[in-house]
Amino acid sequence: MTDTLSSQLIHPAATEDATWWRHAVIYQIYPRSWADGDGDGVGDLPGVTQRLPYLQALGVDAVWLSPFYRSPQADAGYDVADYRDIDPLFGTLEDADALVAKAHELGLKVIVDLVPNHSSDEHPWFQAALAAGPGSRERNRYIFRDGRGPDGSEPPNDWHSVFGGQGWTRVTEADGTPGQWYLHLFDVKQPDFNWDNAEVREEFEAILRFWLDRGIDGFRVDVAHGLVKEAGLPNYDAELHILDGEVRPGAPMPPMWDQDGVHEVYRSWRKVLDSYGKPDRILCAEAWVRPQERAVRYVRPDEMHQAFNFDFLQAQWRAEDLREVIDSSLKAADSVGAPSTWVLSNHDVVRHASRLGLPVGQRRPNGISAQDPQPDRELGLRRARAATLLMLGLPGSAYIYQGEELGLPDSTDLEAQYRQDPTFLRSNGEEVGRDGCRVPIPWKKDAPSFGFGPSGQTWLPQPPIYGEYAVDQQDGVDGSTLELYRQVLRLRRERALGSGGLQLLEGLPDDVVALLNTGRGERTLLLTNLGEEPVRLPPGAEVLVASGPLTGEDEVPTDTTVWAAV
Ligand code: NOJ
Repeated sequence: MTDTLSSQLIHPAATEDATWWRHAVIYQIYPRSWADGDGDGVGDLPGVTQRLPYLQALGVDAVWLSPFYRSPQADAGYDVADYRDIDPLFGTLEDADALVAKAHELGLKVIVDLVPNHSSDEHPWFQAALAAGPGSRERNRYIFRDGRGPDGSEPPNDWHSVFGGQGWTRVTEADGTPGQWYLHLFDVKQPDFNWDNAEVREEFEAILRFWLDRGIDGFRVDVAHGLVKEAGLPNYDAELHILDGEVRPGAPMPPMWDQDGVHEVYRSWRKVLDSYGKPDRILCAEAWVRPQERAVRYVRPDEMHQAFNFDFLQAQWRAEDLREVIDSSLKAADSVGAPSTWVLSNHDVVRHASRLGLPVGQRRPNGISAQDPQPDRELGLRRARAATLLMLGLPGSAYIYQGEELGLPDSTDLEAQYRQDPTFLRSNGEEVGRDGCRVPIPWKKDAPSFGFGPSGQTWLPQPPIYGEYAVDQQDGVDGSTLELYRQVLRLRRERALGSGGLQLLEGLPDDVVALLNTGRGERTLLLTNLGEEPVRLPPGAEVLVASGPLTGEDEVPTDTTVWAAV
């Protein structure tokens, strides 16, 4: 068929020798929920190291670990008190070294999380800033301002915190009087650094080197679009949804996000990374920035290597939307010579197996509680498998979030007493928050904590249905989601789909996404049917893998993706 259909080239093939990060599949480990080595109910680094062979067998190229640094854990480790040490909850620096060594032995690269927008309020620099008082060198490393009003009792401007409530907190000065205010775009325990301060810049370059010297292969950069604030901190009285990036049409650019000055920071970091030679060490931006043309400025040739494609994650389950986002993402990334970095789930969003089980067209929820309409589990899983197959067939890099290879849904009935996300707490429960996607992973159906660790403890309760999704229930089972991921990752590698060119095929029903990937000169048809009627594959197409059963030999039913050699 592909000869009888018209096609449009939307992305040229990469060269055969394209460097690893241009097509890598990277598995996100959320350390507190992946594997608990010591049975205290919180995952840890020795637990991760023990289970790395599972990832090698899965067929990924690298792991990204969410923060494991010393931290009071006010935002699950995104509040760092010491950037050069491991929190005792997770282990020691020696454990981190052992993890990196084991990963490398298995051929896996290791990416760590870097949190440069803010530290913990328990970081020695912030403690020193509190002690030193207004106008001091110590205060100038953070964003301290006098309050407004005659007695300074009004915050310096009207910015909100992303987690709810106001973005400023007033401190008490050493003499006991009410004092200045400090900015925290996130929790009150996460004061924002002042990136106009040379000491802050130097410190972060030193932190980069500290981890690069330990052999890590890259950094995922937290809130990469937030470091530099507009001079003068002008008012911006709108709610902040970082996990969104939406700017109302016609509204001014938010003065805390995506300021031009931030790019200079990444140019200097790129030089640090490049000084380590080959193979490349990488930077991946977490930047909730729109439109794509602005988002890809973070991956210009002298800046970062990758930036998560959150538009893809947020796309509605509609063929037109998917075609549009794939096309525009690749064009935008190609305009700066970067790969697109696909992602469907992470520790901040409802897992795609649950998200896609909600009605199409509604706004993506920030967590689901027992009081909310519940996702359709079967439909969600079917669509999630189809979405994953589509994603992993696309050229570029892709991130997988722990547990999605099991088809794991969110925990959607977590009781309020267990919730730990500051979003939930700061919004008085109005925003459910992200705990539902952070529940510990099930490894064995008939073991305490479903095999997460040696005890029955888990820092968030696991729903009973998680047993059905456990690794041991899927391992070696034909048609299981785990075996599907293994098969698909193997095929992706064999057919070099990550470096292929991509054509959009036209002339099929509107609710079909049909693409042709030409990795390594072979032709792989990627076909996702989002319509109600089954779609017939072209004559001679040889099915390589399908996200669900076909009807008859060659009919692709609804919510199913097929890869076929054509
Ligand atoms: C983005 C992280 O992914 C999220 O988990 C965290 O709460 C915020 N940044 C603040 O660091």
